[in-house]
Amino acid sequence: MKIMDLGEISGDMLLFGGIYSNLQALQALIAQAKHRNIPAQNCIFTGDVVAYCADPYASVQALRAFGCPSLAGNCEVQLAQNALDCGCGFEDGSACSMLSVAWYAHANAQVTNDQRVWMASLPERIIFSHNGLRYAVIHGAASDISGFIWPTTSQPEFASQIATLQNQVGGIDRVIAGHCGIPFQVEIDDVLWINTGAIGLPAHNGSPQTHYISIVNNHLKINVLDYDINAAFAAMQAVDLTQGYHDTLKSGYWPSQDTLPADMRL
Ligand SMILES: [Fe+2]
Repeated sequence: MKIMDLGEISGDMLLFGGIYSNLQALQALIAQAKHRNIPAQNCIFTGDVVAYCADPYASVQALRAFGCPSLAGNCEVQLAQNALDCGCGFEDGSACSMLSVAWYAHANAQVTNDQRVWMASLPERIIFSHNGLRYAVIHGAASDISGFIWPTTSQPEFASQIATLQNQVGGIDRVIAGHCGIPFQVEIDDVLWINTGAIGLPAHNGSPQTHYISIVNNHLKINVLDYDINAAFAAMQAVDLTQGYHDTLKSGYWPSQDTLPADMRL
């Protein structure tokens, strides 16, 4: 397993995930980091730079230029392997599976060989210490890069995932995850499990703004990201990505609830 050890990080931090080819959202996140005087090495990306939105190539280039530590998401793993689909773990025939065909083809056509080599170089785990706490960063679940861990996941399942992760990287106080697209934090025994949510799509709550995590003065907070939604929407229309996720940018609701557990469906 490829583990990136960042050692001790001091100062404020930003943690974010799910760029999803939404260049406008990534530009807004980078502007936030600069506004808060948080350097790129204190910003950590939890994976899935490329997915639903219009600008896969430009988003990868912008993330690489920013230079923050970045984790491999399932989308990067699949594109690096020249795979035929996103590997999100959607069931065959589900709405998410069918909706992913258009954006994955669009992304696969734009992403260059050089970008695939970069994606293949990304770590599967990032570990670091910050203010006396040891963190591990994963994409989905510790047992499966595409595993969905939700705020309503059972306590025994959280505990099992934390035990798996500690077998992989040693003792930890906090887990930073991505993939599911919903920001949350859940305390399991003495470990805090945090999901960064996604900056590239809203969290299926009717609000078009997206989310990221800040750690300022050792206080961890889920933040709302304001960005140029109209520009991101227009960019999707311009490349015919109009199968449903474009409306999500404005409505704040996902086009399908297939991936959500029953107790989180609206
Ligand atoms: Fe993912």
